Amino acid sequence: MASVPSLFASIQQRVSAALTAAVPSADGADPLLRRSDRADFQANGVLGLAKKAKANPRELGAAVAERLPADELLAQVELSGPGFLNLTVSDAAITGNLAARAADDRLGVPSTDAPGTTVIDYAQPNVAKEMHVGHLRSSVIGDALVRILEFRGERVIRRHHIGDWGTQFGMLIQHLIEHPHELDHPQDAGGGDAAMSRLNRLYKASRAVFDSDEAFKERARRRVVDLQAGEPETMALWHRIVDESKIYFNSVYAKLDIDIHDEDIVGESAYNDLLVETCDLLESSGVAVRSNGALCVFFDDIKGKDGEPVPLIVRKADGGFGYAASDLSAIRDRVGVLDADTILYVVDARQALHFKMVFETARRAGWLTEKVRALHLPFGTVLGKDGKPLKTRAGESFRLEDLLDEAVERAAAVVTEKAPDLSAAEVAERAQQVGIGAIKYADLSTSMGRDYAFDLDRMVSLTGDTSVYLQYAHARIRSILRRAGEAAPKAHPELPLAPAERALGLQLDDFGDTVAAVAEGYEPHKLASYLYGLASAFTTFYDQCPVLKAEDPATVENRLFLSDLTGRTLHQGMSLLGIEAPERL
Ligand code: ARG
Repeated sequence: MASVPSLFASIQQRVSAALTAAVPSADGADPLLRRSDRADFQANGVLGLAKKAKANPRELGAAVAERLPADELLAQVELSGPGFLNLTVSDAAITGNLAARAADDRLGVPSTDAPGTTVIDYAQPNVAKEMHVGHLRSSVIGDALVRILEFRGERVIRRHHIGDWGTQFGMLIQHLIEHPHELDHPQDAGGGDAAMSRLNRLYKASRAVFDSDEAFKERARRRVVDLQAGEPETMALWHRIVDESKIYFNSVYAKLDIDIHDEDIVGESAYNDLLVETCDLLESSGVAVRSNGALCVFFDDIKGKDGEPVPLIVRKADGGFGYAASDLSAIRDRVGVLDADTILYVVDARQALHFKMVFETARRAGWLTEKVRALHLPFGTVLGKDGKPLKTRAGESFRLEDLLDEAVERAAAVVTEKAPDLSAAEVAERAQQVGIGAIKYADLSTSMGRDYAFDLDRMVSLTGDTSVYLQYAHARIRSILRRAGEAAPKAHPELPLAPAERALGLQLDDFGDTVAAVAEGYEPHKLASYLYGLASAFTTFYDQCPVLKAEDPATVENRLFLSDLTGRTLHQGMSLLGIEAPERL
């Protein structure tokens, strides 16, 4: 259970101490250590320090190098260029450090020093509507962040802020009252798909009447008032629509292998009881003012194209509360009741202005204090191969399930080609893991704010930066370990390491620092690129260093050890991204 300091961290400390010993005023100076191609690490901090101390950088470099004699950790220190230090770690230190990681369940990954409470708002589809690729991104990224933060020891509270409130429910419910059987159709009972098609039918039918029949429109409007007043019959039908939607959401999440718990689905409607108070507090404190009958918050720096200020509308002129009012009320709940230190919103970048205004309003109202961080983690748009937002030829959004099913289908082809003798059930299971993993990985390996092209061919490719490549590396390792027979993984720090073993070892040692950085910066793509680097380092190692056929038994054991730790690290890392790592592929 002990966290294992990385070689990087240990060397950083050593170089820091040497810098301070050479120039006492440098205490605490950053040695600017990084990985390097010339040696294992390079420290560039001498240059800046020499400048400050008005010393000759090469002489200062030599003085620092002198204070870094070779020992168990450092094999070699070399002064180069105008005053860089090239540092080579000893083979024994690499293997020794890896052995300590291997002995730990957490692979030596440190827990956070000061765990707090993070509320994360993600996976927030809208009731009575199809989910789209934007909801996919929020769900996949949010799920990975939850796993990463929890692994670090943070207390995480999930909030699926689904769109389950608004004037459109007046129309749906009124139609359902007038056509009580619209939602129950015997031939398409059960299943998420069927639930969604019933909701679609209700939506389309009610929309058609709403658009053509003024009297219905008026009845629908009155129904909104009943809904807001909590009138029992209206509420019962509202519940029915929400429940039907949940059947659909759950079926999509099951396909995606993402766990959504009912108690975490706390949608817009959950804050109804707070809305009036939220508005009163904003108005009485002067944070919000009435403008043309609406309750608004204004900002000096937020103006529209015409130069006129764009306000956040908290309550409309007709008295209706909107999206902003529930978000502000949710902040009060998340801070006041859930005791959040951090609130994360995994939401489309196109809502950036909304969150900017909501956070600023909450700060002015005193609901967000310096002790609480609220962060919008914006994600980019999913594009088609043509570089335009992903749409079908008819210009409609793709149905999410169709995309998922297609990914699984393509994966089945890849799996069958790789292992033609698998049974149909085995193909189906692996295709699921490969296809869904591919979709998640393509999303997670792109830095969150960027748009990315949804290209299934590339996603399920066995080569390149894909989850299949990682899954394949993992399965290959598992197969080597199965074939090892008598030989067992065992670290031999006394053995010299080949270059590919060193490279793999240093990459493995970096896992803990990577996870910590990913958790602190909310950047899952850095974990994805780490894992790709790890799988690549393993591929090179496997090409250059025979494992089971190595020259002597100790080398066999040590290489099995490296393989085993690589497999465990890949497995753990992929699991933090929500991606399965099957035993065989
Ligand atoms: N339901 C919204 C949508 O589909 C996303 C909700 C985001 N979360 C929030 N607290 N506003 O766009």
